[in-house]
Amino acid sequence: MTNQIPTVIIDTELQSIELSKLYLQELDYIQITEEFTDMIAGYNAVLENRPSIVIFDISHKTDLALDIINKISINHKTCKIVVTSSNYSTDIIIRAMRAGAREFIPKPFIKDEFINSISKFKDQIIGLNSENKKCRVITTFSNKGGIGKTALATNLALELANMTKEKVALIDLNLQLGDITTFLDINPSFDISYVIQNLTRIDETFLLSTLEKYKDSNLYILADPPYLEQAEDITAEQISTLFSVLKQAFSYIVVDASANFDGKTITALDHSDLILLVTIVNLPAIRNCQRCLDLFERLGYEKEKTKIILSRYMENDEIKIEDVEDVLGRKIYWKVPNNYFTIMSAINKGIPVGLVNADSNISQSYRELAAMLSDNIYKQDFGKKVSRKSFFNLANLFK
Ligand SMILES: Nc1ncnc2c1ncn2[C@@H]1O[C@H](COP(=O)(O)OP(=O)(O)OP(=O)(O)O)[C@@H](O)[C@H]1O
Ligand SMILES: [Mg+2]
Repeated sequence: MTNQIPTVIIDTELQSIELSKLYLQELDYIQITEEFTDMIAGYNAVLENRPSIVIFDISHKTDLALDIINKISINHKTCKIVVTSSNYSTDIIIRAMRAGAREFIPKPFIKDEFINSISKFKDQIIGLNSENKKCRVITTFSNKGGIGKTALATNLALELANMTKEKVALIDLNLQLGDITTFLDINPSFDISYVIQNLTRIDETFLLSTLEKYKDSNLYILADPPYLEQAEDITAEQISTLFSVLKQAFSYIVVDASANFDGKTITALDHSDLILLVTIVNLPAIRNCQRCLDLFERLGYEKEKTKIILSRYMENDEIKIEDVEDVLGRKIYWKVPNNYFTIMSAINKGIPVGLVNADSNISQSYRELAAMLSDNIYKQDFGKKVSRKSFFNLANLFK
């Protein structure tokens, strides 16, 4: 078979090398090129021959092994390192990942687990999947705070993941005091700061193991850093590189953007296929929405890139939708109904609104929006034509 993947095994136990080889016989695209019981000899050979995969056991001389793994990940960046160990405490797994491991297989081996871990690399290395992969970046934005952006981003991302069964990343770009971890009651092991520090050795497997998987869904969360000062160290260029890598691994990326128009936010907006510009029906918010639209135009964004979302919408509001549309010169794309009780219950419990009450108007609204934005019907324009003259001409207020 062509396209075989050169693989090296480094393991102080001969028996476990034999077992690994036996299991790997089932993967005809894996070619064991060398095997070593001596770590240093193995390390030298890896640097010289540059195999695509290294299976490295760290059960013995763990500190030395992790040091070597770290060196391999620095000096042979594209190498996929699979760590095996009879000690699989959380501490060891995290240390292995920090050193550069992409997979961790506990010992004694379970055949299926072993084969699954190695087979994950096939498409990445042989490149079967990499070309046609397409990703849609959807960003919720408003330059006003407290408007419902995080509620929208979080629930939309989860609905997209449930609906499409594809991998969805949810990124908190409120780098100082993001709210996504609170909304979903998660305590991730890694955050955006950690991922950005490791940009040079990042790939799909790394991302899938560092982003926090939400329960049994296909939603992966990248949280804001825990310390305020860490946000300062993150640059717009790094955010740009992060997007490029995330796009390789996910079908959808939902970004909860910060309300500040700084370089990092603009970078996220530049990378977005769709900006959900969130507003509520009150004058200051609409005025700000209008300013954002002006800025987007100056940034050269196509009109279709931005969709206006009315948050906390009430049917009997004094200001009518048509008036808002007149002022903005744009259709309202979607209305998220006002449902304080359900949203607060969800936020207080740290769960999505769908779990509080799947039949509530707000859950339905997020679900339907996800359906609209998912691949098959994404391009359709659902804006309704305004057919009647409004009684209350909001446009006058802006003259
Ligand atoms: N559809 C809704 N109906 C009623 N209340 C809502 C709705 N969406 C959000 N809220 C209320 O607005 C508050 C702010 O929501 P959220 O945190 O999502 O806004 P935000 O724009 O992300 O705010 P921030 O600027 O702080 O990031 C929530 O605590 C909730 O009380
Ligand atoms: Mg928010």
